[in-house]
Amino acid sequence: MLIGILKETQKGETRVSITPKNAKQLIDLGFSIMVEVDAGDNASFKDKDYKEVGAMVEKRGVIFKEANVLIKINPFDQDDLKLVKKSHILISQLFHKSHPELMKEIAATGATAFSMDAIPRISRAQDMDVLSSQSNLAGYKAVIRGAFEMTKILPLMMTPAGTITPARVLVYGVGVAGLQAIATAKRLGAIVEATDIRPETKEQTESLGAKFIVVEDDGNTETSVYAKVASEEYARRQKEAVNKSLFQADLVITTAMVPGRKSPLLIEEDQVNQMKNGSVIIDLAADQGGNCAFSKMNKIVIKNGVKIIGTTISPESVSTNASELFGKNMYNFINHLTKETQFEFNLEDEITNATLIIQNGTIRQNGK
Ligand code: NAI
Repeated sequence: MLIGILKETQKGETRVSITPKNAKQLIDLGFSIMVEVDAGDNASFKDKDYKEVGAMVEKRGVIFKEANVLIKINPFDQDDLKLVKKSHILISQLFHKSHPELMKEIAATGATAFSMDAIPRISRAQDMDVLSSQSNLAGYKAVIRGAFEMTKILPLMMTPAGTITPARVLVYGVGVAGLQAIATAKRLGAIVEATDIRPETKEQTESLGAKFIVVEDDGNTETSVYAKVASEEYARRQKEAVNKSLFQADLVITTAMVPGRKSPLLIEEDQVNQMKNGSVIIDLAADQGGNCAFSKMNKIVIKNGVKIIGTTISPESVSTNASELFGKNMYNFINHLTKETQFEFNLEDEITNATLIIQNGTIRQNGK
């Protein structure tokens, strides 16, 4: 079974889906690996690094022609699909729920496609969970970006010229990214507070040495597998509970998202107007509508002296580590799907069933 690793073509993408280390692990399992020329270049992995572990390095056209399995990070696009064959097994993030037209186009090739963003969030799938591995880095980088944009420093500093008090950081949403943001801001010496709609995050926040802002739940939140949708009453109580900290904060990092829905609006115009001059909001939910009223994706908006930065903090900005984690997730996923290098298609298995979006040109129920 020959696995082809494609160079990412999406603008700004600098990661690669398999590192030389993962290529070696797959070769040890019995797979052959063919990597597109310069695929790992922007993530600090050279063609010679892949060759050294026994992978072949070839041009794009050769990979589509020779490989049985094609691997990418970003969804296969129209250019890729021109070269995809019926016999191909495609593995990438497909974001199938928000790209129904693309799913039809992939299905039209007759190929089979697995989506890594559909990996269920269960304990046994943790080592394949690309959303978590990449969000974790985003949480770290959000604090670094915030520190860069701020006109203040994060830690307490005692100098002969005077004492600088530590910055105050507020984190909305204590998921994977939020937890890493809390940990990073704490390590850099800030006073950190956080809030989340899921009460179990209180303990996680406190275990990192940060203060959790409790919002009493009115019992009307809509619960899904691991996320909740706030009621209007909850949103009102949240503002009441968090505003004092928000108005004192130097850096606010918002990460609150609800899968498959628009992000909740947590910081409205009147709240921004009461924030400190010079404070910074890094809105990691900007791509899905944003947690702040003024957030614009990939833009810096200044309102009332508050700098609001809408970004997904792309893991591309730490492409070496992002590729290492993505590649390990990919290796574990391929290992899970195959036995002696052959794909098993065991639909009784929750992970396989959830991620197999298109089978032999047919969009499965979970792919709709
Ligand atoms: P996410 O990126 O979808 O959301 C971030 C956070 O925002 C969540 O903690 C959510 O509760 C919070 N949030 C949503 N609406 C809010 C509101 N109105 N106010 C305040 N907070 C709000 O979440 P992420 O990081 O993808 O995962 C969340 C949780 O899912 C994890 O902490 C973990 O418990 C679970 N999980 C389990 C995995 C596994 O078992 N394999 C893998 C990843 C996550």
